[in-house]
Amino acid sequence: MPTGSASRTAVVMCQSRAAADGRSAVGRFADPVAAHLLSDDERVPVDQVRAGQRPQGWATRVAFESVRATMQMIVPRTVAIDDAVRDQAAPQVVVLGAGLDSRAWRMAELAGVDVFEVDRPPSQADKRARVGGLSAVARSVRFVAVDFAAPGDVGLADALAEAGHQAGMATTWIWEGVIPYLSPTAVAATLDAISVRSAAGSRLIASYQATSVRTRIGWVTSRSWGEPWRSLWRPEQLEGLLHRYGLDVVTDESLLTVAEQIGTSVQNRRSLRDSRVVVAGRPGRRQPVPSDPQQDLP
Ligand SMILES: C[S@@+](CC[C@H](N)C(=O)[O-])C[C@H]1O[C@@H](n2cnc3c(N)ncnc32)[C@H](O)[C@@H]1O
Repeated sequence: MPTGSASRTAVVMCQSRAAADGRSAVGRFADPVAAHLLSDDERVPVDQVRAGQRPQGWATRVAFESVRATMQMIVPRTVAIDDAVRDQAAPQVVVLGAGLDSRAWRMAELAGVDVFEVDRPPSQADKRARVGGLSAVARSVRFVAVDFAAPGDVGLADALAEAGHQAGMATTWIWEGVIPYLSPTAVAATLDAISVRSAAGSRLIASYQATSVRTRIGWVTSRSWGEPWRSLWRPEQLEGLLHRYGLDVVTDESLLTVAEQIGTSVQNRRSLRDSRVVVAGRPGRRQPVPSDPQQDLP
């Protein structure tokens, strides 16, 4: 994405959640807040998808198809991550690359929780303008502006400390839809900060794209979206990296498995199979990080 611009993919994710609310996996998926984070223009394809009305012009049709296709991925991804958050209610949640994530505004389970939303400065400024006067459900929401790829003077660990994050207390980390946009080096650097600030009992919930022929094609096409993919992972490769940072994998499942469990429409099986959500936990004392944590990165 252009350095000074807010993320456009974050808007498409939000549009897809808004389109799916009350339409897909009812009882398992809900995001009534998403529509409130969108502009009137951005709500047009959402309303068309909800009404099942295909528009005529090609530009409006592209927006419609993009929201409709993304819905199939976003519903199982949201359900998998929401379930993992409910499963382990840490007193603080850090949402990395938050985009237009609405959990702090919609999840009753976060009522006693302090939420820290981290994002690149332009995406975060855009989010704050969109949130406006919406009341959060979470006990508090603090915004922390950091670029994982170019953290500048204050890196993620220090920025969180400045914002009041408590390294001595367990944290649930949500890293949804961000890893593909980071180089392996930026992924490792972010895991290092997560590791430094993860007390025993902390959990990381992250989505990633598995390496496959299809995702390698996605890698090329993502160039034209303006937010290029920079890393794909084999599950065992990411598991090894997490382990190096003292995080042991608890579950790692494909969105195809989740979609089949919750009974949502599956039109692109291969795409869902390559989209994965991993949950990893900090079991006990922090393990020492190797002197060269980036060795063996892809
Ligand atoms: C596809 S959006 C996902 C947003 C949200 N997590 C969701 O799932 O709806 C990608 C997000 O990652 C953020 N992001 C991408 N590169 C980043 C970086 N280098 N540092 C911090 N955030 C980044 C973008 O600003 C954007 O909010």
